[in-house]
Amino acid sequence: MAEFTAQWPAGTLTNLHSSNPEPLSWQELNTITGCDLAQVIAQSNLGYESVQGNEHLRQLISQQYHQNITSNDVVLTSGAQEGIFLVMQALLEANDHVIAFTPCFEPLVKVAENAGASVSTCELLADNNWQIDWALLKCQFNAKTKLLIINFPHNPTGSHITANDLQQLQDLCHEHGCWLFSDEVFRGLEHDTNVRIPAAADDCEQAISMGVMSKALALPGIRLGWLCCQNQQLLQKIITIKSHLSICQSSLDAQLCQKVIPHSERIWQRNLDIILNNKKQLKKLVDSNDEFAWTEPAASATAFIRLNKYQGRDFAQSLAENKKLLVLPDDVFLTEHSGFRISLGLTQTNNHYQQIFNHKPNIS
Ligand SMILES: Cc1ncc(COP(=O)(O)O)c(C=O)c1O
Repeated sequence: MAEFTAQWPAGTLTNLHSSNPEPLSWQELNTITGCDLAQVIAQSNLGYESVQGNEHLRQLISQQYHQNITSNDVVLTSGAQEGIFLVMQALLEANDHVIAFTPCFEPLVKVAENAGASVSTCELLADNNWQIDWALLKCQFNAKTKLLIINFPHNPTGSHITANDLQQLQDLCHEHGCWLFSDEVFRGLEHDTNVRIPAAADDCEQAISMGVMSKALALPGIRLGWLCCQNQQLLQKIITIKSHLSICQSSLDAQLCQKVIPHSERIWQRNLDIILNNKKQLKKLVDSNDEFAWTEPAASATAFIRLNKYQGRDFAQSLAENKKLLVLPDDVFLTEHSGFRISLGLTQTNNHYQQIFNHKPNIS
């Protein structure tokens, strides 16, 4: 992603690819929390936090994880990106084998490879709502498989799995004696709010669930995420590695999060209102233009638009050069399906959506 976007100086293109919904303003956040957050910041402690992270905030986060996760099972991180690094460093050694799905958020594969593991990727089934190809998945496991990585609700396709699918994934990990790392940063953005599934780590000791403020809670300027895991040995290893990285997250971020997390449901709903409205606009454009196709997203704040006539990279490059609009091409997500990721979570997109669907790249 960095390589593709670095072609243009920051701020010169209109961003239409973000996976996070439109960031909340201070005013919106004050209204939702019922607090003057400037006062919260002014009164906060400016010392270090503990390495595991603020106890009260961990408790608030654990309450979102239903029955079995307690504050002791939570480690705070500086964003989800640090969470990914911590998990891979704590679990993986050279020659370990990892399984991941594509298309994917690239660091989920690359950080595992950088930790010395070999990664087998399974393409999600584009022609079947980007669901898991169970036969393909089952034949990827071998004696060295240490970790299965999942990310549902999914970036970039907006697909989701059922509680039954999650149970099957947990059973497969159990059968093969490997860990399940579940990147759940879009949890809360299920388009049908009745289909929220349990967090993977809630009822499985061999699983790690990850959340963050930047995605479903639309606050990427607050660099705070969390890992939840019931296995205390792994958690302690993660805490030790974190003490060599960020040490602790910003205490200002932690103070803000304590006010925000209890209002998660309301923020998710604010984001869903934007997402569902954009999805309706996009559906009209996709349905009326046979050069484009999609599986209508069921969750998260992005869609993957498939291209019938062009390569994703050519289309995105031409769109950026000629229209100054930025979407992300397929190769950024390590997939062979031609297409691009588009945001469903930003406001004031309609006119830009039209321009994308009217765009005819001049490719020789
Ligand atoms: C699936 C997924 N996981 C993790 C992250 C990292 O989140 P952050 O940038 O807030 O650390 C992202 C960011 O786009 C993501 O899409």
